[in-house]
Amino acid sequence: MEYETPLFFHVMEYAKRADRDVVDMVSGTPDWEPPESLRDAVREYADLESDQFQYPPSEGLLELREEIAARRGVDAEQVVITNGAGEANYLAMARALERDRGSEVILTDPVYPYYPGKTTILGGTQRFVATDEDGQLDPAAVRAAASEETAVIVVNTPNNPTGAVYPEETIEALVDIAEEYDAILVSDEVYDHYDLSGEFASALQFESDHRIVTNAFSKSMAITGYRVGYAIFPPTLVENAKSRHMLVNVATTRPGQYAVLHALKETGPDYFEANRQLLRERVETFTDALDAADAEYTTPQGSFYVMARFDGYPGTLENVERLIDEAGVAGMPGEAFGDSRTDWIRFALVTPRAETAAERLAAYFD
Ligand SMILES: Cc1ncc(COP(=O)(O)O)c(C=O)c1O
Repeated sequence: MEYETPLFFHVMEYAKRADRDVVDMVSGTPDWEPPESLRDAVREYADLESDQFQYPPSEGLLELREEIAARRGVDAEQVVITNGAGEANYLAMARALERDRGSEVILTDPVYPYYPGKTTILGGTQRFVATDEDGQLDPAAVRAAASEETAVIVVNTPNNPTGAVYPEETIEALVDIAEEYDAILVSDEVYDHYDLSGEFASALQFESDHRIVTNAFSKSMAITGYRVGYAIFPPTLVENAKSRHMLVNVATTRPGQYAVLHALKETGPDYFEANRQLLRERVETFTDALDAADAEYTTPQGSFYVMARFDGYPGTLENVERLIDEAGVAGMPGEAFGDSRTDWIRFALVTPRAETAAERLAAYFD
């Protein structure tokens, strides 16, 4: 299996070079607005004193860490502000692997491809556990795969690419398995504000020294370019993670943290609900058209993605390129996410033209 992250870029570039109009549904980049208060804070920032243009504390602005800690019911000491969920996952996985309790990383299949990629650069070995058709993970299958060699179990809910939201029982069982095998559960919850099912459960609900929760404002505030995320570590694991963060990054961006802090304080639930409603409408339009195209698909319970399978049209890179040229719709090949969904194509609902894309697919596969 290849985990070349540039595959995303390759498909996006291919779509851009195409000789026709293409609806881009490749990557998870929101097309909706950030909170108004975030824009206000960014404007304000330009006129702050010059000391505000210098290094922030490495682990993040104290006020932001305190705000997150209060909302998540943890101690601010446990919170590290990172360069997005991407760095938070890297720090969490590195911290788990450096405990020297084995080098195996349990991942799901399908998988968000950055996890296997990070495993490789950290010197770990991947072990995949298949999810079911709906993307649900059976804790018994994870237990069967776990051993003395297991350093870390990485899960993501709401899930990219399947749209699954794991029920509370699954998360609780995964924390138990991590404890049983002296491993670490890393729960990537970057799509938590896009739970469309009401079933989302955070791993923070289950107190344990064996779980790390990662998150970011990239998706929840539609600011993937600002690079502000966080990881919540158990007190026993946090110090080394802070050192690694400092040695790799020094710190993450100060204006970004300032803007997020303001937006957190000033944004009401309406903003997040409006974004969920937008997604719900897009899911409906898109899946209606997939029905018209006689495609098989999973209706997402959360996140931004719909995986679809078209009869006789496996989701290879070649077919995805053909779909760009011949139908004018760009998705991600299922083969990018592991072995189990090679027949499928993932479409990200982050364009106001999801309806156009759906109509084109329906016409193309008619
Ligand atoms: C599951 C998952 N985790 C992490 C990330 C990266 O998030 P960030 O941009 O905050 O680094 C993404 C982005 O698509 C994602 O889908």
